[in-house]
Amino acid sequence: MNAPVAVITGTGSYAPSRVMTNEDFASYLETSDSWIRERTGIRERRIASPEEATSDLAVLAARKALESADLTPKDIDGIILATATPDLLFPSTACLVQARLGADKAFAFDLNAVCSGFIYAMSVAKSMVESGSARRLLVIGSEVMSRTLDWSDRGTSILFGDGAGAVVLEASATAKRGLETFRIRADGRYWEMIHVPGGGSRISEKGTPYLRMKGGETFKLAVRSLQESVLEVLSASGVSPGEIDLLVPHQANIRIIDALATRLGLPMDKVMVNIDRYGNTSAASVPVALDEAVREGRVAEGSRILLTAFGSGVTWGSGLLTWEAELQKRSRL
Ligand code: UT7
Repeated sequence: MNAPVAVITGTGSYAPSRVMTNEDFASYLETSDSWIRERTGIRERRIASPEEATSDLAVLAARKALESADLTPKDIDGIILATATPDLLFPSTACLVQARLGADKAFAFDLNAVCSGFIYAMSVAKSMVESGSARRLLVIGSEVMSRTLDWSDRGTSILFGDGAGAVVLEASATAKRGLETFRIRADGRYWEMIHVPGGGSRISEKGTPYLRMKGGETFKLAVRSLQESVLEVLSASGVSPGEIDLLVPHQANIRIIDALATRLGLPMDKVMVNIDRYGNTSAASVPVALDEAVREGRVAEGSRILLTAFGSGVTWGSGLLTWEAELQKRSRL
């Protein structure tokens, strides 16, 4: 018998209701709406309320993904939750989500590859489904980045936002391609490029619990790594950029996305962009963008979709998939 193919059968996302605009920053920082829009592509971002934590966002996104897959929490064998902003140091946020959903058959663990977390989680989930160790998984990216921000630092605070996205991944005997090729990479020598120096076991005298980033260096490394990564995945799959129906990139900076699209020769109508409304939501960025693309009707049965992300670690990765949700749902009956 052939190994099962891993296919996405449902997507969901959730963003907190509070909107913070560029003008809100300009009211107390030396910045402006035009600087932020031109240098980053961001107009506004969502900020979690004091009562909302990463698991709350994740549960709401997961419920929507299950609903769109026509499944219930009891159908799920495992939950992989990508986050760099867990509710607690331990237990994992995935365990809190498992309990809240009532997914009582599911194992649960967190995975931290920061902004690349969802690509990493999908890569792990794909292997589990293909090996037969899990049949139905919830893969979630959820972040409350706002808790890590130094609101007086105009170089970082304006970039990030909060949100969650989720997919249901199933083993399919009928799908042809599903998740095709995923490649994940890391280079820990650059760990300082984007980091939060407090809150872990390393006692640092200079430590603050706030995110620090070398913006310019990160930008250059992100552009180079994303380009290499997508080209590696396309070449390993024998697919040319012209065969891609939709690129769903990590939403860190519109100029990084533009550079990637130009390198691939992809017109912007084949690129999912929602950074203007959410900013950089780290591990939630790709699944939120994917869910919006699906709900906006930009994904059809058979669409070839390329996911890619770069983040702290540094980590990066890409994945090529074919959308076969309807085929799998029909073959379940
Ligand atoms: O998710 C992980 C991956 N993250 C990323 O990929 C982020 C990558 N980096 C970036 O997106 C960009 O580097 C930033 C948006 C963070 C910064 O843009 P930039 O064009 O690289 O600006 P810069 O850091 O070179 O700064 C240019 C100037 C500086 O002023 P001086 O030194 O030239 O006087 C900054 O102080 O812009 C200044 N600046 C600002 N001005 C107004 C930095 N932030 C702001 C701001 N408003 N918010």
